Amino acid sequence: MENNIIPYEDIKSSSLKIIELLREFGYIIIRYPAITEMITHYRFSMINFMSLSEDERMTCTPEDFDRRGWSYGKEIFNGKTDSKKGSYYAFLDNNGDDVAENIWPSELCSPGLQSEPSDQISNLENFKENILELSKTITVVQKEILKTIGYNLESYNTTLRMLYYGKVLEDDYLENNYWCGLHKDHSYLTGLIPDLYIKNNNQIEKVDNSGLFIRGISVTIPEDCLAFQVGETLELASNGAVSATEHYVKKALGCERITLAIFLSPESDYVIPENKVENDRYINGMTYGQFANASFKKYYS
Ligand SMILES: [Fe+2]
Repeated sequence: MENNIIPYEDIKSSSLKIIELLREFGYIIIRYPAITEMITHYRFSMINFMSLSEDERMTCTPEDFDRRGWSYGKEIFNGKTDSKKGSYYAFLDNNGDDVAENIWPSELCSPGLQSEPSDQISNLENFKENILELSKTITVVQKEILKTIGYNLESYNTTLRMLYYGKVLEDDYLENNYWCGLHKDHSYLTGLIPDLYIKNNNQIEKVDNSGLFIRGISVTIPEDCLAFQVGETLELASNGAVSATEHYVKKALGCERITLAIFLSPESDYVIPENKVENDRYINGMTYGQFANASFKKYYS
């Protein structure tokens, strides 16, 4: 869908086109060749992380887990535990830097392994740097898109969600053929990288009829591109000028999948402007923090 692609350097001059594409398709694709190498580094880090034992990975799960650090098969989505979804959450501050509450593998995995370092762990030393570099770059693109369509953010929050979807066996597939069910994100704008499929430890081409579907249509993000979809807060704040993007992710039998979602949102105390959008959680005068909590409650409990 070449018409849906905007080169990174053209964002500033494409405000009408961006709004049109978001209205027509629910997402835009930005071609940004410089991101390809960063994506490769990130994928490499995630593959290394996933090659650790679950006990080692669990050292990145805080006791008070609340969408922070690593979790696998714990999240409840639409009332059902998603046994095949692994999420690793981290946050960036307003300058795009690491924040104190983040948990990174090298800090927690390394101490117990100092006497016997493994290649896997040494490769993970760059995990934090790789994810921060990629996420900061995606955040810059997100801010440029928002600025172009009239939202010049002075303060914002960035949530990184590193996603690993576990290998799908036949029983899983028959029971539930979604890695992630139908929903809308609730932030301003979600940035996505091209997804990586793995089968029997080998990278493979995307499997037909699997992966991301936006408004019911399969979406493939080219390798040198990023995709951006609209969250409910942008729909509310724009009084419906753009609609939040309904999407889901379908499983691929026998495969694993790695991707990354970057959620750019207002600060918690931002009051969402009064609007006429119909939304089952929004109440006039609500802050973004209150809206986000209501959304987590809806989808994750
Ligand atoms: Fe989503």
